Amino acid sequence: MTESKTYKQARKYMQDAVALEAEGNYEAAIDAYGRALHNFQHERKYSSIPTYQKAMAEQMTKIMDRIEQLQSMPPPPPPGSRPRTNKGKAPGKSGRRSPPGVGGGGHDPDSISSLSTDPHHNNNNNNNNNNDDQSEEPADEAGAAGSSNETDRMREELEKTIFHRSPQLQEWNEVVGMDSAKASLEEALMPQRYPQFFQDGGLEPWTGILLYGPPGTGKTLLARAVASHSKMNFITVSSTDIVSKWVGDSEKLVRCTFEIARKHAPCVIFIDEVDSLCSTRSDSDNDSSRRIKNEFLTQLDGVLRESNEGVVFLGATNRPWDLDVAMRRRFDKRILVDLPGASARGQMFAIKMHRISHNLEDEDFLRLGEMTKGHTGSDIRNVVKDAAYEPVREVLNARYFRAVFMGEDQPELFTPCRPDDPGAMEVRAKDLDPQMIMARPCTMSDFEAAMQRSKPSLGEVDMSKFHEWTEQYGERGN
Ligand SMILES: Nc1ncnc2c1ncn2[C@@H]1O[C@H](COP(=O)(O)OP(=O)(O)OP(=O)(O)O)[C@@H](O)[C@H]1O
Ligand SMILES: [Mg+2]
Repeated sequence: MTESKTYKQARKYMQDAVALEAEGNYEAAIDAYGRALHNFQHERKYSSIPTYQKAMAEQMTKIMDRIEQLQSMPPPPPPGSRPRTNKGKAPGKSGRRSPPGVGGGGHDPDSISSLSTDPHHNNNNNNNNNNDDQSEEPADEAGAAGSSNETDRMREELEKTIFHRSPQLQEWNEVVGMDSAKASLEEALMPQRYPQFFQDGGLEPWTGILLYGPPGTGKTLLARAVASHSKMNFITVSSTDIVSKWVGDSEKLVRCTFEIARKHAPCVIFIDEVDSLCSTRSDSDNDSSRRIKNEFLTQLDGVLRESNEGVVFLGATNRPWDLDVAMRRRFDKRILVDLPGASARGQMFAIKMHRISHNLEDEDFLRLGEMTKGHTGSDIRNVVKDAAYEPVREVLNARYFRAVFMGEDQPELFTPCRPDDPGAMEVRAKDLDPQMIMARPCTMSDFEAAMQRSKPSLGEVDMSKFHEWTEQYGERGN
């Protein structure tokens, strides 16, 4: 099997991480491990080969363990207290430093299985080497104060990055099709609009909604549109971020996320790629992922118990079957975001061409919809992008341009033409003022050319798994 670009990149990050660790530059090593994790996660998400997915998951677990170990290193001794032997940069702001014997060369950078995974091993080593640390505050008091400060800091930082007050992220009507998914989401937003139905033990609000379906069908898009449409506050976290950027602090992050949501209720918490956080718990789980999952379930129970608090939890995944059973149960609505039908596809073309100059008619969009069976919304976006580039490619390759009259008091513009067109000048685009060049409108032939190059990203067989899961646990959203 040939290696994908993402996998090669992951290997490169691993090599960097191991080298940085060997230099004692823990901060940067953690960052590089985080990037590798992100890439392995991407590989796992888009692969359809179970053994490969498993290998990626195992690699991720090892990296998470490794990051946790690096993060748990005690702070470095005060400057000047002992000669520095690390040839790398001094540890960064978090004060991590290299444990002796770790990352010191000889590791296989493609796999960190050869790295020590016993945290005691590292801690012991550090204790031996850290007599300087004894002069610091008593561990438990300092630890407690430090940890609460740290949590406050994390909450503040999170509020800045993940929290959006009544955002306008995505127009509701730019999300095409998905009528029943939209209707279900509207129901979930009802308590804010019609609180009277929910008072005194009336209707029970939906609190956990799962959007699932193949990649590129618009789950993330829909979630972002919910935020704009509902005018509720919105918290968005990608679980890839939780497991990569926040590894080690992940369960604290989960707790803070729910705290922020309660503080700013009514609020939607959206966790993208929720399967990476809440996949089936197993004995082989590392500590970190087990703690994240448990914290998640606890927090969700809180939200479910106090369902009138105005916190709605929205998750998206393209691997619903990987979800932990306990987690699955906590989503009281599970909506399949399926491949779009022909008419939805046609509308997508029309919407995506809104801001692009073109000469297509309504019937052309309908035809495009019919011609793109099996395409996801994301495939359609790619076709549009490719077609829209055709006039620009023509500009870049043109050898003849002619002037176009743009109206009184308007400067003339230049557009590509044939050598025998009236007023044709032999000139290349690079020799003209870029501001004066005009591309022609996009045409149906541009789309036909783009479609020759485009293949739907999903096969028939991929969908059957979603349909089976829907029969058992979900409902259709299109
Ligand atoms: N129903 C839709 N209406 C309009 N555009 C869509 C729709 N579905 C997908 N798209 C287009 O496809 C792009 C990708 O969609 P999105 O990222 O929401 O997919 P996803 O289902 O979240 O995929 P993944 O499972 O890979 O995260 C969107 O940015 C949008 O341009
Ligand atoms: Mg998505």
